[in-house]
Amino acid sequence: MGEGDGGEAPRGAGFLARVRQTCGSEGGLRIRIRSKPAPRGGGSLNTSQVLRLPVCRGCAILRVVLAHTEPGMTDPRNRLNNLTNREWVQETKSFWRGDGGSGSVVGPEVLEEFSRWLRETHGEEEAGRLLGQLTSSRQLSSNPPRGGQKIAHPATFSERDIERLISFFTKEGELVLDPFVGSGSTLLAARACGRGSLGLELIPRWADLARERVAQQADLPAEPPPAEVRQTNALTGLRELSDASADFVVTSPPYWRILRKKPGMKAQAERQDKGLTTHYSEDPADLGNVADYGEFLTRLGEIFAECGRVLKPNRYLAVIVSDFRDGKRFVLYHADLSVEIERHGPALKGVTILLQDDKNLYPFAVPYAFVSNIHHQYILIFQKPKA
Ligand SMILES: C[S@@+](CC[C@H](N)C(=O)[O-])C[C@H]1O[C@@H](n2cnc3c(N)ncnc32)[C@H](O)[C@@H]1O
Repeated sequence: MGEGDGGEAPRGAGFLARVRQTCGSEGGLRIRIRSKPAPRGGGSLNTSQVLRLPVCRGCAILRVVLAHTEPGMTDPRNRLNNLTNREWVQETKSFWRGDGGSGSVVGPEVLEEFSRWLRETHGEEEAGRLLGQLTSSRQLSSNPPRGGQKIAHPATFSERDIERLISFFTKEGELVLDPFVGSGSTLLAARACGRGSLGLELIPRWADLARERVAQQADLPAEPPPAEVRQTNALTGLRELSDASADFVVTSPPYWRILRKKPGMKAQAERQDKGLTTHYSEDPADLGNVADYGEFLTRLGEIFAECGRVLKPNRYLAVIVSDFRDGKRFVLYHADLSVEIERHGPALKGVTILLQDDKNLYPFAVPYAFVSNIHHQYILIFQKPKA
């Protein structure tokens, strides 16, 4: 196979020798990767894809990315997940883009057809450049509409995004923990991925909702993995768990008391119009009711310290939050929380921005002052140090 000739998938020492010769060439190397037919029950993954690689920096990178690319083929050194090395790389892109709630992510068949059309109409080189941008990462995240029972809860996250995190940070059969499980999204995502899960939730109404959603979950294997909801204060519930008993913690805590603000927020007013609740509860133990921001952070810190104890060494904690305004002050919640969590041991390893391009723009303070429309969330990734 040669540079840009779209040949068969590279194999063995001959290919690497060719890569070394090509090193330093302008524009890098374009190759076509062909996946083998998916294993039984694995869907139609018999695809090909043009990859553009910066060869000069890349002999070492290539060896990692091109090894273990076929579906279901995990690098024997991989102790974290069941992904191929290529899937691993794709997941490390520092932003994910929501698809506007349509639930449609471009599948491999569509991409294949599209790339054929691009090559015919734009030529090999331009098609390679365009496809490189399009397929260089799985940046899309598919948000299922917040319908059905889930809409009763005032602040939920997308199961699809959590499935991506769970697939990256665990292997099948491992245990996922969410100390603020709300409507149970994490448990649904964990079961869909074949992982066990435990969720803690203070408010009985939301704990019941999570249990109902788990009980009604469809499209599961004959023996779905266990998913348990415990109605308890997160701190109390975590203290009952053994050291190093969870493989991954993923959660979204309350964003201080933003849901208790006067109904200035349009989204809140719309929920009120539909007769839906706009906050979690009146319970003083609900962290969404803590008046002082410093005290709120300290109490969250205690909970994340316990999460760190319960997590196995070297494993990960993902926290999904957004910044917000408090009156005229802009609060960098993601930064404040990162500092607080790191004080308790887990080390910040990266931040993924979750773009929410489908949200409505509101003309806040137009034409007098700059007031941001906050259309992204942060996924903060921490790792517990080795024992
Ligand atoms: C942002 S929501 C989580 C939503 C969840 N990710 C979902 O998709 O449904 C935060 C949840 O934390 C709960 N909560 C607040 N204080 C708590 C505490 N001290 N212990 C346990 N849960 C608490 C709230 O009732 C709320 O359901």
